[in-house]
Parts: sequence; structure tokens; C-alpha cells
Amino acid sequence: MEHLLGIADLSRAQIERLLDEAASFAGTTGRVETAPLAGAVVANLFLEPSTRTRVSFEVAAKRLGGDVVNIAAAASSVVKGETLLDTAKTLDAMGPDVLVIRHAFAGAAEYLSKRVRAAVVNAGDGQHEHPTQALLDALTIRRVKRTLQRKVITIVGDIRHSRVARSGILCFAKLGAHVRVCGPATLIPPGIEKLGCTVVRGIEKAVKDADVVMCLRIQNERMTEAFVASTREYATGWRVNAERLALAKPDAIVLHPGPMNRGVEITGDVADSAQSMITDQVEHGVMVRMAVLRTLVAHRRGAKVARPRLIGGGGG
Ligand code: CP
Repeated sequence: MEHLLGIADLSRAQIERLLDEAASFAGTTGRVETAPLAGAVVANLFLEPSTRTRVSFEVAAKRLGGDVVNIAAAASSVVKGETLLDTAKTLDAMGPDVLVIRHAFAGAAEYLSKRVRAAVVNAGDGQHEHPTQALLDALTIRRVKRTLQRKVITIVGDIRHSRVARSGILCFAKLGAHVRVCGPATLIPPGIEKLGCTVVRGIEKAVKDADVVMCLRIQNERMTEAFVASTREYATGWRVNAERLALAKPDAIVLHPGPMNRGVEITGDVADSAQSMITDQVEHGVMVRMAVLRTLVAHRRGAKVARPRLIGGGGG
């Protein structure tokens, strides 16, 4: 694995290998003794807001003995008009092993992967993909349900603008799950079934007998027009509450990638219930990102990625 750009690029075997490795990090709190990232630098370039993803990449790299630099849009030369490519090439010239990128442009990670020497990880590109989120969600399901094979996973909410939904559908379907999506008709993109899911009209029908219910927030930051009449009407029609969750299997679990809007897509009692895996998802995010970083750095070291040579350098 040279880069991690999307779940679409991964085979089932690759996904399972990453999940197995992530699971092996369970219970790790301090630095891993073997420090597989010793001497490696991870650059976190986040040009969209993030709490969970950015911090967990940093914690993951540090647990593996690597060094981390964090670059946020507001504190970078992006605000002076520097392009994404010039910013990325500037960072790349300092020799990081991994460049973790979050950007509003769908395709940003793939674009950079062809133009920098570092391994590129997509930490969310517009409405396109968020592969490490899908992997941590799959790990969460696998650790509770043992397997995703034949499990019914219902994703409720703003499917149209959600990179979490796209990566999740691809990942869960590759692992053998039956994926249902539901939400207001305006928030279900045409052709979504091609990713490996079924569109179900009505939340009650979609949640019925599900093993997993994933709630997604409305992605207002990606909307250019009104897709729902009002937040209150959305909540009435699509919020996952205790009554709706009771239609799922009695041992169903609830996922939410965060950040959540309590009372809108999920009620507080469901978010804080014993069925909620929301804080487990965060914990699993660190484990998955450890597995991804270790795999990418090991690949680079095995492949002996060339550094450019300076003509006439070296002194002496
Ligand atoms: N789930 C997720 O990507 O959260 P952040 O935006 O906080 O990173």
C-alpha cells in the first residue's frame, strides 16, 4: 500500500489485514516498544476543521514512535493565497514520510499523491471518501458482532453530502454486509446503489431488524441550496430516537462518526445509551490510524523510496 486514498482502491483482503493489525493495538496506551515509526515524520495538513481525525492521527503516530507536524489552514500560508499544491510541495520538500490531507476538494488526496514523494492519506476529501472513518467503523462493528458478513447496517441521514457514507457503504459491502441507506429523498444521491447498498424509503422500515444503525449529521457546509425544509422537520422525520431504535434487533448498536448534533439526527438518550458505540469509535480510530501509518511507512522502507539528489552537494 503506497497511499491510502479511498476504500474503492482496497480489496477485501487488504481491508481485513488493516483491521487485524488495528485490532492488535487494542489496549495500547503508551508508546509501542518496537517504535515502528521511529525516525519517520507524519505531516497533518488539515484544510477543513477536524477534532477526531487530526488528533487521532497525531496520537497514532506518536504511539508508534514517529514525529508529527500539524498544519491548519488558518495558521498557514494558505491564507496568503498559496495553492494546495504549493503548500503540499513545500511540506514535501522537508521530507515527511506521510502526508495526511483533509480538503474540501473531492480528489485532493489523489491529486497530491501523484505530485509529492510522501505517502498520502486521505483524511476526508469533499463529498468523496473518508477511508479511515470507514475502517474504524468496520472495526467497531467487527469487535462487537465478530463479523460484518450478512449483518444489516442502516445508514440514516444526509447521504448525498457524506464522504463517511460513501466510504462506509463501499467498506461494509466489501466485507459482506447488507447496507441500507435512508433519508429525505433530496439527500439520497441518484445511483448510490451502485456502491453496494439498498435505498429504503422511511426510517422505520430502514431500521427494522438492523444490526447496526449509523446516524449522520446534515452537512450544511457542503450545501449550496436548501435540501430540507427546516432542522425541526428533519429531526421529526429522520432523528434516531429510542422508539425508532427499538425496531432494530435488540442487540443492535448505534454508530455516529461525529461531530453529532444532539436532538437533530440523534437524541441524547440514544447517544448516551448502552447501545451507543460512539466513544468506542473514537478509540478504534487511533488503532486504525496506527495500522495505516505503520503499513505505509513499512512499505516505503521496504521500497526504499528515493530522495532527490542535489547536484554538487555533499561538501568535502
Ligand atoms: N468523523 C470525523 O471525521 O470527525 P472530525 O471532523 O472531528 O475529524
